[in-house]
Amino acid sequence: MTSDHASRLLGPGPDRRPDDRGDAQPVRHVPRARDRARRRRPRHCARHDLRDRRPAQDRRVPRPVRPALLRGRHRQRRLDRLSPGHRPQQLRRFPRIDAVKNVAPSTPGDLLLHVRAERSDLCFEFVRIVMAAFGDSVTVVDETSAFRYFDARDLLGFVDGTANPVGAEATEAALIGDEDPDFAGGSYVVVQKYLHDLATWASYGADLQSEIVGRDKADNVERPDAETGQKAHKTLATLEVGGVERAILRDNMPFGRAGSGEFGTYFIGYAGSVSVTLTMLRRMFLGDPLGMYDRILDVSTATTGTLFFAPAADLLASLSDAA
Ligand code: HEM
Repeated sequence: MTSDHASRLLGPGPDRRPDDRGDAQPVRHVPRARDRARRRRPRHCARHDLRDRRPAQDRRVPRPVRPALLRGRHRQRRLDRLSPGHRPQQLRRFPRIDAVKNVAPSTPGDLLLHVRAERSDLCFEFVRIVMAAFGDSVTVVDETSAFRYFDARDLLGFVDGTANPVGAEATEAALIGDEDPDFAGGSYVVVQKYLHDLATWASYGADLQSEIVGRDKADNVERPDAETGQKAHKTLATLEVGGVERAILRDNMPFGRAGSGEFGTYFIGYAGSVSVTLTMLRRMFLGDPLGMYDRILDVSTATTGTLFFAPAADLLASLSDAA
């Protein structure tokens, strides 16, 4: 069993940029190509190699436990001390998306703990120790405990994470590179807590559900892109910039309380360029073409949306030295 845990915390005060702009890069959608691996630009970075030899179903994140994703006024001051006047280039407030039918809200959060282990007691213990260290300097605004659901499925019943990049491609997708040298090896993390209307979803039947997701529900085989009409989730979330497909590293966490009728997906996306994640989101919410939004959203309501910066391990260590 795998257990996941995400806590969103408010620090002593927000330090957010007024800059709410979305993606400035031209990003366009292209039909999914079978040979996309060949089109990707290799970018190797031995220090941050995420090669992973665990079984496929365990490879959704590079490490079994990934804690401590931080953002907050005091943390930013330390970043400023280490690198005066220079912050991660794309760090900004998560931009709210107002679509005709659906809204992706922007909600506050200074620190994110994303904890992952094979045992839920280890997750619990880790968070307990961290919270004891924080004392009353933070306020918890959300705490979500998740679990592995069958063969890595989400609560909509689909295998989730199949198209995630692995090895060097995961490194390239998830980590900031030399374009922002002071923060290379870090990652932009977008989190959104979605609640599902499972009764409506069940009423669609497996075939329509598979069309909406773009994969067969039973065997997870990819379906061809639709020629007309609303595109599938996997099509809207496939991006290409300048002839190169751009990926993110997702670690969606299924969570729920059957007794209270709460069913959800805690979306977590790691990216070296947050514009990739935000463009995927805009395509889902606004649609492509405009108005032809992602039908997953007919049964999924985003209740939160926050962007964090996760420093590389060495930067994180130096921040604590500077504390
Ligand atoms: C309700 C929330 C969501 C659910 C239940 C969900 C579920 C899924 C499922 C089942 C797949 C197909 C299997 C796979 O490749 O993983 C998928 C693919 C994907 N999703 Fe989501 N997803 C959600 C939200 C998002 C969001 C918010 C983003 C991006 C901002 C995103 C990005 C992607 C990407 C990039 C793919 C792979 C597309 C491809 O190349 O085939 N998803 N998602």
